[in-house]
Amino acid sequence: MAQHGIFITFEGVEGAGKTVQVQRFATALGANVLVTREPGGTPISERIREVFLTAEGITAKTELLLIAAARAQHVAEVIRPALEANQIVLCDRFIDATVAYQGYRSGIELALINQLNRLATCGITPNLTFVLDLPPEIGLQRKPQQDKACSDRLHREPLEFHHKVREGYLAVARAEPHRVKLIDATQDADAVHAALLAEYQKYLSR
Ligand code: TMP
Repeated sequence: MAQHGIFITFEGVEGAGKTVQVQRFATALGANVLVTREPGGTPISERIREVFLTAEGITAKTELLLIAAARAQHVAEVIRPALEANQIVLCDRFIDATVAYQGYRSGIELALINQLNRLATCGITPNLTFVLDLPPEIGLQRKPQQDKACSDRLHREPLEFHHKVREGYLAVARAEPHRVKLIDATQDADAVHAALLAEYQKYLSR
Protein backbone atom coordinates (compact mmCIF):
# COMPACT_ATOMS: atom_id res chain seq x y z
CA MET A 1 0.00 0.00 0.00
CA ALA A 2 1.22 3.51 -0.76
CA GLN A 3 1.44 5.36 2.57
CA HIS A 4 1.06 9.07 1.81
CA GLY A 5 0.65 10.74 5.20
CA ILE A 6 3.14 10.75 8.07
CA PHE A 7 2.74 8.25 10.86
CA ILE A 8 4.35 9.12 14.22
CA THR A 9 4.10 6.98 17.35
CA PHE A 10 4.84 7.84 20.98
CA GLU A 11 6.08 5.19 23.38
CA GLY A 12 7.46 4.84 26.87
CA VAL A 13 7.11 3.25 30.28
CA GLU A 14 4.18 4.14 32.55
CA GLY A 15 4.24 7.82 33.52
CA ALA A 16 6.75 8.92 30.87
CA GLY A 17 4.41 11.76 29.91
CA LYS A 18 3.48 10.50 26.44
CA THR A 19 -0.15 11.42 26.49
CA VAL A 20 0.50 15.06 27.41
CA GLN A 21 3.30 15.26 24.84
CA VAL A 22 1.14 13.82 22.05
CA GLN A 23 -1.42 16.57 22.67
CA ARG A 24 1.20 19.32 22.77
CA PHE A 25 2.83 17.97 19.62
CA ALA A 26 -0.54 17.92 17.84
CA THR A 27 -1.22 21.53 18.84
CA ALA A 28 2.22 22.59 17.60
CA LEU A 29 1.65 20.92 14.23
CA GLY A 30 -1.78 22.49 13.75
CA ALA A 31 -4.01 21.36 10.88
CA ASN A 32 -4.34 17.96 9.23
CA VAL A 33 -3.35 16.04 12.36
CA LEU A 34 -5.17 13.03 13.75
CA VAL A 35 -4.51 11.96 17.34
CA THR A 36 -5.30 8.43 18.38
CA ARG A 37 -4.17 5.75 20.81
CA GLU A 38 -3.64 2.04 21.41
CA PRO A 39 -5.14 -0.08 22.61
CA GLY A 40 -8.17 1.87 21.41
CA GLY A 41 -8.96 4.46 18.78
CA THR A 42 -12.22 2.95 17.48
CA PRO A 43 -15.39 1.94 19.33
CA ILE A 44 -14.56 -1.76 19.01
CA SER A 45 -10.91 -1.25 19.99
CA GLU A 46 -11.91 0.90 22.99
CA ARG A 47 -14.12 -1.96 24.19
CA ILE A 48 -11.17 -4.30 23.87
CA ARG A 49 -9.05 -1.75 25.79
CA GLU A 50 -11.49 -1.85 28.68
CA VAL A 51 -11.20 -5.64 28.90
CA PHE A 52 -7.42 -5.51 28.47
CA LEU A 53 -6.87 -2.98 31.26
CA THR A 54 -9.23 -4.45 33.81
CA ALA A 55 -9.16 -8.24 33.33
CA GLU A 56 -7.45 -9.70 36.40
CA GLY A 57 -5.90 -13.12 35.72
CA ILE A 58 -5.55 -12.53 31.99
CA THR A 59 -2.81 -14.66 30.41
CA ALA A 60 0.07 -13.21 28.40
CA LYS A 61 -1.21 -14.89 25.23
CA THR A 62 -4.71 -13.48 25.73
CA GLU A 63 -3.17 -10.03 26.21
CA LEU A 64 -1.27 -10.38 22.96
CA LEU A 65 -4.31 -11.51 21.01
CA LEU A 66 -6.50 -8.73 22.43
CA ILE A 67 -3.89 -6.15 21.50
CA ALA A 68 -3.58 -7.58 18.00
CA ALA A 69 -7.38 -7.61 17.57
CA ALA A 70 -7.70 -4.01 18.75
CA ARG A 71 -4.85 -2.99 16.42
CA ALA A 72 -6.29 -4.72 13.35
CA GLN A 73 -9.55 -2.79 13.76
CA HIS A 74 -7.75 0.48 14.51
CA VAL A 75 -5.49 0.25 11.46
CA ALA A 76 -8.35 -0.69 9.13
CA GLU A 77 -10.82 1.86 10.41
CA VAL A 78 -8.67 4.85 11.39
CA ILE A 79 -4.93 4.75 10.70
CA ARG A 80 -4.87 3.46 7.15
CA PRO A 81 -7.66 5.74 5.85
CA ALA A 82 -6.05 8.78 7.54
CA LEU A 83 -2.66 8.05 5.98
CA GLU A 84 -4.27 7.51 2.60
CA ALA A 85 -5.91 10.93 3.04
CA ASN A 86 -2.41 12.45 3.61
CA GLN A 87 -2.98 13.19 7.27
CA ILE A 88 -0.33 13.28 9.98
CA VAL A 89 -1.29 10.50 12.38
CA LEU A 90 -0.03 10.71 15.98
CA CYS A 91 -0.58 7.50 17.90
CA ASP A 92 -0.08 7.06 21.64
CA ARG A 93 1.56 3.60 21.61
CA PHE A 94 1.69 1.13 18.71
CA ILE A 95 3.67 -1.97 17.63
CA ASP A 96 6.74 -1.26 19.77
CA ALA A 97 4.58 -1.41 22.91
CA THR A 98 3.77 -5.00 22.03
CA VAL A 99 7.46 -5.82 21.69
CA ALA A 100 8.22 -4.12 25.02
CA TYR A 101 5.24 -5.36 27.07
CA GLN A 102 4.24 -8.71 25.60
CA GLY A 103 7.77 -9.53 24.41
CA TYR A 104 10.29 -8.24 26.93
CA ARG A 105 7.96 -8.08 29.94
CA SER A 106 5.94 -11.26 29.38
CA GLY A 107 8.52 -13.29 27.48
CA ILE A 108 6.51 -14.11 24.36
CA GLU A 109 8.75 -14.94 21.41
CA LEU A 110 9.55 -11.80 19.39
CA ALA A 111 9.13 -13.60 16.05
CA LEU A 112 5.53 -14.38 16.96
CA ILE A 113 4.88 -10.80 18.07
CA ASN A 114 6.32 -9.44 14.83
CA GLN A 115 4.17 -11.84 12.84
CA LEU A 116 1.00 -10.75 14.65
CA ASN A 117 1.98 -7.10 14.29
CA ARG A 118 2.33 -7.62 10.53
CA LEU A 119 -1.06 -9.29 10.38
CA ALA A 120 -2.75 -6.50 12.34
CA THR A 121 -1.06 -3.60 10.55
CA CYS A 122 -0.98 -4.98 6.99
CA GLY A 123 2.64 -3.82 7.02
CA ILE A 124 1.94 -0.19 7.98
CA THR A 125 4.87 0.97 10.12
CA PRO A 126 5.52 4.33 11.75
CA ASN A 127 7.74 6.79 9.87
CA LEU A 128 9.01 8.08 13.19
CA THR A 129 8.74 6.76 16.75
CA PHE A 130 9.57 8.65 19.93
CA VAL A 131 10.47 6.63 22.99
CA LEU A 132 10.12 8.87 26.04
CA ASP A 133 12.72 7.26 28.21
CA LEU A 134 13.06 7.45 31.97
CA PRO A 135 13.68 5.10 34.90
CA PRO A 136 10.37 3.37 35.73
CA GLU A 137 10.66 4.40 39.39
CA ILE A 138 10.26 8.03 38.34
CA GLY A 139 7.41 7.29 35.94
CA LEU A 140 5.44 5.32 38.53
CA GLN A 141 5.74 8.16 41.02
CA ARG A 142 4.52 10.68 38.45
CA LYS A 143 1.65 8.66 37.06
CA PRO A 144 -0.89 9.23 39.85
CA GLN A 145 -0.80 12.99 39.27
CA GLN A 146 -1.13 12.57 35.51
CA ASP A 147 -3.84 10.01 35.17
CA LYS A 148 -6.80 9.11 37.29
CA ALA A 149 -7.10 5.80 35.43
CA CYS A 150 -3.71 4.78 36.77
CA SER A 151 -5.18 2.08 38.92
CA ASP A 152 -5.20 -0.28 35.91
CA ARG A 153 -3.60 -3.63 36.53
CA LEU A 154 -0.42 -2.97 34.49
CA HIS A 155 0.45 0.06 36.56
CA ARG A 156 0.32 -2.10 39.70
CA GLU A 157 2.80 -4.70 38.40
CA PRO A 158 6.13 -5.25 40.19
CA LEU A 159 8.93 -2.82 39.43
CA GLU A 160 11.02 -5.49 37.69
CA PHE A 161 8.29 -5.80 35.02
CA HIS A 162 8.53 -2.10 34.31
CA HIS A 163 12.31 -2.40 34.02
CA LYS A 164 11.85 -5.14 31.43
CA VAL A 165 9.49 -2.90 29.47
CA ARG A 166 12.12 -0.15 29.45
CA GLU A 167 14.77 -2.65 28.36
CA GLY A 168 12.46 -3.63 25.48
CA TYR A 169 12.09 -0.05 24.32
CA LEU A 170 15.84 0.55 24.52
CA ALA A 171 16.42 -2.60 22.43
CA VAL A 172 13.95 -1.40 19.80
CA ALA A 173 15.72 1.99 19.67
CA ARG A 174 19.10 0.28 19.24
CA ALA A 175 17.78 -2.01 16.52
CA GLU A 176 16.08 0.74 14.48
CA PRO A 177 17.88 4.03 15.14
CA HIS A 178 16.64 5.55 11.88
CA ARG A 179 12.99 5.25 12.92
CA VAL A 180 13.08 5.15 16.72
CA LYS A 181 14.35 8.20 18.62
CA LEU A 182 15.08 8.09 22.33
CA ILE A 183 14.01 11.22 24.18
CA ASP A 184 15.16 11.93 27.73
CA ALA A 185 11.86 12.15 29.61
CA THR A 186 13.47 13.04 32.94
CA GLN A 187 13.58 16.62 31.59
CA ASP A 188 10.71 18.98 32.27
CA ALA A 189 7.73 18.90 29.90
CA ASP A 190 8.84 21.99 27.94
CA ALA A 191 12.27 20.52 27.26
CA VAL A 192 10.74 17.20 26.16
CA HIS A 193 8.36 19.05 23.84
CA ALA A 194 11.26 21.00 22.30
CA ALA A 195 13.27 17.79 21.83
CA LEU A 196 10.35 16.14 20.05
CA LEU A 197 9.90 19.06 17.68
CA ALA A 198 13.64 19.12 16.95
CA GLU A 199 13.61 15.42 16.04
CA TYR A 200 10.56 15.98 13.84
CA GLN A 201 12.34 18.81 11.99
CA LYS A 202 15.32 16.50 11.46
CA TYR A 203 12.98 13.87 10.05
CA LEU A 204 11.40 16.38 7.65
CA SER A 205 14.76 17.56 6.39
CA ARG A 206 16.10 14.06 5.67
P1 TMP B 1 -1.46 3.68 28.19
O1 TMP B 1 -0.94 3.64 29.57
O2 TMP B 1 -0.51 4.28 27.22
O3 TMP B 1 -2.85 4.20 28.08
O4 TMP B 1 -1.54 2.12 27.67
C1 TMP B 1 -2.34 1.21 28.30
C2 TMP B 1 -1.58 0.00 28.73
O5 TMP B 1 -1.56 -0.95 27.66
C3 TMP B 1 -0.14 0.24 29.13
O6 TMP B 1 0.06 -0.32 30.42
C4 TMP B 1 0.67 -0.57 28.14
C5 TMP B 1 -0.30 -1.60 27.62
N1 TMP B 1 -0.04 -2.05 26.25
C6 TMP B 1 0.52 -3.31 26.05
O7 TMP B 1 0.75 -4.05 27.00
N2 TMP B 1 0.79 -3.70 24.77
C7 TMP B 1 0.52 -2.93 23.67
O8 TMP B 1 0.80 -3.33 22.54
C8 TMP B 1 -0.08 -1.64 23.91
C9 TMP B 1 -0.39 -0.77 22.73
C10 TMP B 1 -0.33 -1.24 25.20
